[in-house]
Amino acid sequence: MAILKILEYPHPVLKQKAEPVAKIDDEIKKILSNMLETMYDAPGIGLAAPQIGISKRMLVLDISENKDNPYIIINPEIIWKSDEVNIYQEGCLSVPEQYADVVRPEKIKLKYQNIDGKEQIIEADGLLATCIQHEMDHLNGVLFIDHLSRLKRNMLVKKLKKLQEA
Ligand code: NI
Repeated sequence: MAILKILEYPHPVLKQKAEPVAKIDDEIKKILSNMLETMYDAPGIGLAAPQIGISKRMLVLDISENKDNPYIIINPEIIWKSDEVNIYQEGCLSVPEQYADVVRPEKIKLKYQNIDGKEQIIEADGLLATCIQHEMDHLNGVLFIDHLSRLKRNMLVKKLKKLQEA
């Protein structure tokens, strides 16, 4: 296992649309296990492969208090989302120390492959639904700051640049 380097805005990989995972081989499993370790170490509650420079459609997350309920999610697809929305204050390991309210569907139904390649369908709401949607955005080159008004986004980016230069 290894702690991987987390890429930060404005790294170009973070803007790319990631490719589907064709085969869940040992290399992919090793990356996912390292992603989990990196996420716990950061610490964070979610990490998508583009954030460690691998433009593939896979992510890990764990919103449990004791950090003992990891999800490994490969080739995810949202097959239903609610009209009702939720607002959470979001942050991102690729946009360190910046936080803002983001509006997203409150409930989703998600189809994905687990680490054994088995198709899973789950329903998620609350923080889990928000976290899944945030991480899935990374697979499409979207960051949480892209959901904000231009004014708010420019403000966060300015603060982030200052932090990165310090
Ligand atoms: Ni993020």
